[in-house]
Amino acid sequence: MIFLNINNLNVSIEGKKILDDFNLTINQGEVHAIMGPNGSGKSTLANVLAGNEDYEVNSGKIIFKDQDLLGLNIEERAQIGIFLAFQYPVEIPGVNITPFLQASINSKLKNENKPELDTLSFAKLLKEKAKDLGIGPDMLKRSINTGFSGGEKKRYEILQMSVLNPEFTIFDETDSGLDVDALRIVTEGINKFKNDNNSFLIITHYQKLLDYINPDYVHVMRNGKILKSGDISLAVEIEKSGYQNF
Ligand SMILES: Nc1ncnc2c1ncn2[C@@H]1O[C@H](COP(=O)(O)OP(=O)(O)O)[C@@H](O)[C@H]1O
Ligand SMILES: [Mg+2]
Repeated sequence: MIFLNINNLNVSIEGKKILDDFNLTINQGEVHAIMGPNGSGKSTLANVLAGNEDYEVNSGKIIFKDQDLLGLNIEERAQIGIFLAFQYPVEIPGVNITPFLQASINSKLKNENKPELDTLSFAKLLKEKAKDLGIGPDMLKRSINTGFSGGEKKRYEILQMSVLNPEFTIFDETDSGLDVDALRIVTEGINKFKNDNNSFLIITHYQKLLDYINPDYVHVMRNGKILKSGDISLAVEIEKSGYQNF
């Protein structure tokens, strides 16, 4: 099975070219990190993978689990196992966490022709997952991200991931501006969730995050392309000398 293959992808926003013949292959169970200066197109890549329609795909192909990903809309992509953790999580006042997550997981289960979870079984599952992540029952009664602290938003994001159980999770600078505790929530959450079936694309500026996660590959992106790929030592090099050598 081809897990994820991005082939000669060209993307523009308002006529400006952002991704330029972009190529990347991620196999099942792999953790890839992308680093790169601001404006390289990292968030564009994340959004195009997740199915955000504000971006114009001019040419190229994305295969995910042997399917033509570009032919699917944002909901369909979530249903087949793509999850994007945002750089700036949105607040959704009035939408309670528990029914929202129940609806999300049931939509995925339905798509997989699996039985949906009733309210009681879902509540049980959610409580277990939350407990695993050190989240108390009070948070589960709240509206999504509304009035959450930075650390709470991260916990919620990790909880959402662990409930939905996506096969491919994209973190877009989810570590930006986080304190050490929040960083630990994210990295511990990822490490707990990581297994041979699910893959990650982690967009970050910090070697520190990657030290905790230990990615299989690190890529340097600039001007809409990957310029260099390597292992964690590439992140160490960037932390030391910046992007000037690329
Ligand atoms: N909504 C938008 N409208 C116009 N230009 C945009 C928009 N979003 C991003 N861009 C431009 O696209 C380029 C890449 O942005 P982005 O993908 O956010 O880069 P990165 O995440 O690597 O910092 C930048 O030059 C940015 O100004
Ligand atoms: Mg960005």
